[in-house]
Order: sequence, then C-alpha cells, then structure tokens
Amino acid sequence: VAWIGGRNGFLRLIDQTRLPNELVYRDCRTVEEVWQAIRTLQVRGAPAIGLAAAYGLVLAIRPTHPPLASGSARERLAAAASYLRTSRPTAVNLFWALDRMTRAAASTQASSQADLLDVLLQEAHHIYAEDLAMCRAIGEAGLPLLGDGMGVLTHCNAGALAASDYGTALAPLFLAAERGLRFTVYADETRPLLQGARLTAWELTRRGIDTVVICDNTAGQVMKEGRVQLVIVGADRIAANGDTANKIGTYGLAVLARAHRLPFYVAAPSSTFDFSAADGAAVPIEQRDPREVTHGFGRQTVPDGARVYNPAFDVTPAELITGIVTEKGLIRPVSPATIQQTLRTG
Ligand code: MRU
Repeated sequence: VAWIGGRNGFLRLIDQTRLPNELVYRDCRTVEEVWQAIRTLQVRGAPAIGLAAAYGLVLAIRPTHPPLASGSARERLAAAASYLRTSRPTAVNLFWALDRMTRAAASTQASSQADLLDVLLQEAHHIYAEDLAMCRAIGEAGLPLLGDGMGVLTHCNAGALAASDYGTALAPLFLAAERGLRFTVYADETRPLLQGARLTAWELTRRGIDTVVICDNTAGQVMKEGRVQLVIVGADRIAANGDTANKIGTYGLAVLARAHRLPFYVAAPSSTFDFSAADGAAVPIEQRDPREVTHGFGRQTVPDGARVYNPAFDVTPAELITGIVTEKGLIRPVSPATIQQTLRTG
C-alpha cells in the first residue's frame, strides 16, 4: 500500500488476487476504486485495509473527484467514510482508520477543501508511519517466542502484504530470519481463497525462509508428527475479553494446538482491539460468495444443487490463546485485565 505523489497523488496497491503468478499493481484514483479493491481482496489483511481506506478518504475530497454527495467538503467526506464502511465488515482496522481520519478532519479549523485535503493526507501518512513502527515492534515483541530449528505454523496471510511492512504474525519470523535463526514455516493453504499458499508462501520464499505449504486439513497431522512447536496467526478484530476473529480455520487450529499442548499466539496491533465488543459474539462475521467455494480453482468443483456455507472468519475464544503479541508488548495470559494493562501502559 503506497501513496504516490503529493496532494494530487494516487493510491498504489499490489493486486493480491494476482499473486503468486504475477506482480501487478493496481492504481486507485477514486473512492469507488478503493472500495472495489477492498471488497474483491485486491488489498486485504486488517492493517492494509485500514491504510487503503484512509487514503481513500483523501481521494474522495479532491476537487476533481466525482462527488458521492452534494454539499461541502466535510459532507462529502462523511459520505465517503460511510461508503467505505460498507466494503468489508469484520476487520476493525477499517473502521478504526476511518474514525481516526474523521476525527482529524473534525479537529481542524481548515475551511477550504485544499486545506482539509492537506490535513487528511498528513493524517493518512501518520497512520502509515505508525503502522511501519507497529510491525517492527510486534516483530521485536514476538522474537523471543522463536528458537533455532523450530517448526512454526501459520494461517492465512499476516505478512507485509497485509500491512505497511513486515506484517504482524510474520514480523517475528522475518526479524528472526534476518538475525540468522533457522526454522521452518508450515503455511496453511487457507481455503477458499488460498492466502496462505499464494501470499504467505510468496513472502516467505522471497526472504529465503524454509517454507512448507500444507492443506488446511494437514495441520493436525504435522502437529502430531512433532513438526511444529509454535502456532502464530494474525487477527481481524479482538474483543475486550481477548476473543479473536481471524481467517476461517483459525479456531480449528487453536483447538488442535490445545490438544497437542502447543502454544497458540495471536499477533496484532492495538488498532485491532475493539473494546466496544465485550466478547467474540459481538463481532460481525463476513459471509462471502458461494462461488469462492464452488469455482475456486477456475472450474466448478461442487455439483449444482449443493448449498455452500462460506464465512470468511471465525472466532477463537480467549481461553485457547496462549498470548497476544502487540506493538506494546506481550499479553500473556489473555484476560480483560492483562489486555488493558498492556495496551494502557505499554
Ligand atoms: O480475508 P482476508 O484475507 O482479508 O483475511 C485476513 C486475515 O484473516 C488476516 O489473518 C488478518 O487480517 C491479519 S493481517 C495482519
């Protein structure tokens, strides 16, 4: 996710739907293009969705942008924020970034459209810079979890593609590799859209990290064979009690990790916590197109007449989570009190 140019610039994204076969960039110059890029997963991963949305608001109030609503720049901004909120429901970083941009606009006296645009571009750049620092800090906080010769299992993609840089769950792995540790990463394929096989394996192999892609249903077996000593995943929304929404399949992995007495960690920035959700039951779960399941490999793999259930996320209860790695430190054990303590004091 990168902003190219100054106030007349545009948002450039890696089109993640084309990886690993092609590295193609998608340039967005309108808020509709940003909405579309988020909805279709061209840009995906909780922090990256937030960054894209923040820059989307900058695009929306440019004088050259076709208006989403009539009225003042501030009215147009509000309309664009409401519109972007409908792009995807689960990753709270989207709403966090839009709220933060909206607050930045509310707290400035800027009256002209040009001044407001400068304020918003500044704020989006701040969010981006904080995200860079956050990824590094999560990497440092998670580094002690790794040891030489370990096997590490991850699910979906919580790497550099999912944030500004380094990512969340993959950040400790990237740092460890840079510091000379040798380990093997088992990347769950992550059906139906294969973020693990397509994206995580792409990121890991580019950095020379030993990578083994497994079908999702192989995770229990690699644990039983003693190949894995640590499970680490990202998060789309963490409730006040630590219940964690992440890519569908995460909950099953946590159950498997508990059965095999393996540590199960979540890595996420403070912007992924939603204190308005008391527990996981309050997290909206995105339901996606059945065709992702029936036609996922470029051809039909399910007979006509069969119904499909395709939730994009599930919720892992806090009691199955060994710890949460944040940019403010490690939360372990996971409870409402330890979460508050780390995020407030860290
Ligand atoms: O549907 P996706 O690909 O956006 O789902 C992404 C995930 O579940 C990631 O694990 C999560 O957003 C964390 S990214 C640092």
